[in-house]
Amino acid sequence: MNPLHQDRLRIVKWPWVLALLAIFAVAVALTLANGWQAHAREWLNLVVRWLHIIYGVAWIGASFYFIFLENALERQGVRAELSGNIWAIHGGGIYYLEKYKTAPKELPRYLHWFKWDAYLTWVTGFLLLIIVYYADPRTILLAPGSTLPGWAAIAIAIASLVAAWLVYVGLSSTQLLYRPALFLLVGGVLVALAAYLLGQVFSGRGTFMHIGAMLGTIMAANVFFVIIPSQKKLVRAAQRGEALDPNFVAWVQLRSRHNNYLTLPVLFTMIAHHFPMTYNNGANWLILILLFVAGVAVRHFINVTEKEHHKTLTEGGAMPYLLVLAAALLLGAFYLTAPRQSPEAQGQPAVTFAEVQAIIAAHCQMCHAARPTQPGFASAPGGVVLETPEQIVGYAQKIKQVSVDTQYMPLMVPGVPPMTPEQRARLGAWVAQGAPGP
Ligand code: HEC
Repeated sequence: MNPLHQDRLRIVKWPWVLALLAIFAVAVALTLANGWQAHAREWLNLVVRWLHIIYGVAWIGASFYFIFLENALERQGVRAELSGNIWAIHGGGIYYLEKYKTAPKELPRYLHWFKWDAYLTWVTGFLLLIIVYYADPRTILLAPGSTLPGWAAIAIAIASLVAAWLVYVGLSSTQLLYRPALFLLVGGVLVALAAYLLGQVFSGRGTFMHIGAMLGTIMAANVFFVIIPSQKKLVRAAQRGEALDPNFVAWVQLRSRHNNYLTLPVLFTMIAHHFPMTYNNGANWLILILLFVAGVAVRHFINVTEKEHHKTLTEGGAMPYLLVLAAALLLGAFYLTAPRQSPEAQGQPAVTFAEVQAIIAAHCQMCHAARPTQPGFASAPGGVVLETPEQIVGYAQKIKQVSVDTQYMPLMVPGVPPMTPEQRARLGAWVAQGAPGP
């Protein structure tokens, strides 16, 4: 077994691949025979999202673990060829690991590589972008009211991923790479700028998701183009009994550290679509940056704490101030995203339920029904059904939140005129008046 080629593809056996393809073919045939396209898209979304989370957890989990090892290695009193060792207990067993400065004199038969989780996180993430955003760019990718054609939106979206990587590579090839604090500052400004620019074209949700995808692309490409090739170099050099240039090793470590600091910001963007208050907001680029800086501060805190694990809190600089900083930034975002009383909502005459029902029927029910009439929707999105008076009254606070405070609903429907500010004000006034029923 060549230690260069130890990976998971060895388990691929053709009969099993054929069986999987056959199951997929049955699903496609069932869909076509019954006109289940929207239903099938939901299931595709489910399966791919599930895989995306699984690979993402495996990738980031392994990455956190190895960063922990590196941070917490015992470097005193180890053999000359080692940079450190560590004892750990997990799952009922005690483990002992040694890290080599470069490589052992003789390479082991099996060398475990960690790369497929990263690649497949990216691949499943990109498939999700296609399923959720690109398959129907007018619904949630484009800003409401945008007249841009769908293909242009998709082109901008994909170009943003490529541009992120190119700009990052450009920055990393300058001296900035060796000045991490300045790199962070420049990177942060560029992310804010990108969020602001994308926000001119995309919806808030589409903007946040693409910032996350841009950073995720940088991370995955760092693994593919930098980290894995350099590990192959390391193994080849070890096979030939040569040493690697320490400058090269330092360079790779810096690049890999970028991934470490990007993890928490990217994880936020993965869950961001649940929180319209963060992205349906004129200053959403600012909210994003506040949360990103908080994430980077927490990650730095974890790194420092892991390195100083042998010190007590009082003697070590475990930097609790970083946590205070993160909390203060979250407080800032909490304040900035708070619902504002719109001037139209004040002094509104009493709203009758019939009026509310008519607005909901015209702007929401095509999607938010047990059986939506809007093409492409197989079931009520988010499980939110707004058909009976009880349902509408029951969702009153949510309705205000999504269509008055953040205005992220209704999604655009071709042929339906957009909801007017007056209609939103009437919905807001209805909830303010205690959301009376019929
Ligand atoms: C074109 C279809 C469409 C229309 C029209 C529409 N929605 Fe939605 N709605 C969605 C989708 C899709 C989601 C799920 C979004 C997500 O996954 O975050 C959703 C989610 C919601 C949620 C749940 C949000 C959450 O945080 O869980 C509420 C509440 C909601 N919509 C209310 C409304 C109201 C009120 C209207 C009319 C003013 C409306 N929607 C119009 C498609 C639509």
